[in-house]
Amino acid sequence: MPRTLELDDGSGSIPALGFVLYKVAPEETERVVAAGLEAGYRLIDGAEFYGNEAALGAALAQAVDDGIDREALTVTSKFWGDPEQTPEAARRAFDASERALGTRIDVYMIHWPRPARERYVDVWRELVELQRGGRVRTIGVSNFTEQHVQRLIDETGVAPAINQVESHPWLPQHALRAFHAQHGIITQAWSPLGRARVLQDSTIGQIAGRHGVSPAQAVIRWHLQLGGALIPKSTHPHRLAENRDVEGFSLTDDDMAQIAALETGERTGTHPDDRQ
Ligand code: A2P
Repeated sequence: MPRTLELDDGSGSIPALGFVLYKVAPEETERVVAAGLEAGYRLIDGAEFYGNEAALGAALAQAVDDGIDREALTVTSKFWGDPEQTPEAARRAFDASERALGTRIDVYMIHWPRPARERYVDVWRELVELQRGGRVRTIGVSNFTEQHVQRLIDETGVAPAINQVESHPWLPQHALRAFHAQHGIITQAWSPLGRARVLQDSTIGQIAGRHGVSPAQAVIRWHLQLGGALIPKSTHPHRLAENRDVEGFSLTDDDMAQIAALETGERTGTHPDDRQ
């Protein structure tokens, strides 16, 4: 059975393991989504910025026609916030994403805090309204630091149910994960494989070898055993399937400690404070 994580806002649960459509070309999206659903994924991470929401919508419509239960799917979208990061722009973006998808959005997130603009708290209030109005099941943020999340809590009284951040063995985000745990926030890792670069690491290779699994499977298992959610990317059906086949083994405490020792703080993407 796929693992699920409870949302602290009482809106149910999400699968711990999904897949992302970042940089998947629109013309490839229907094929990738179909392959992901065929492999058993039920959480699909999309965003306005990925430019493929209409194709994702077409793939979802096809899947439902083919008998997949829409209620069992979790579909994420995110407010990009550029050129304008305002509550009105967030509402328009939400409406546009919902129209493009042709189905409800289950999880809506602020994609980046863009802290220099000083607008993310106002935008968060708009997401809270969307949820209270029944437009979206759950709301979260992406690329927020502890300081950004704390401000949301202090100024609105509402914590995000999910914070999606870059995390992989070089950037395990232990402190942020502990902070999230105190506030009932799910940590959802993007680039959980370090954009495949982490898979070349010899320690990861040795651990994977000992368990008879691939480096990607070992890293995915590490994320799950930390108690987090993750959205690895692949456009290949066999890798989508491989990445979900992670239940037949367990990393030992020693494996977990060896992976923890790989932390360098190296990012594959932008630091949350740096995106304007
Ligand atoms: P591809 O799409 O060709 O499968 P991340 O999720 O950390 O951003 O990593 C995504 C990258 O990792 C993509 O380039 C993807 O390539 C590659 N990848 C995903 N799954 C695997 C796997 N099981 N083995 C090797 N590479 C993988």
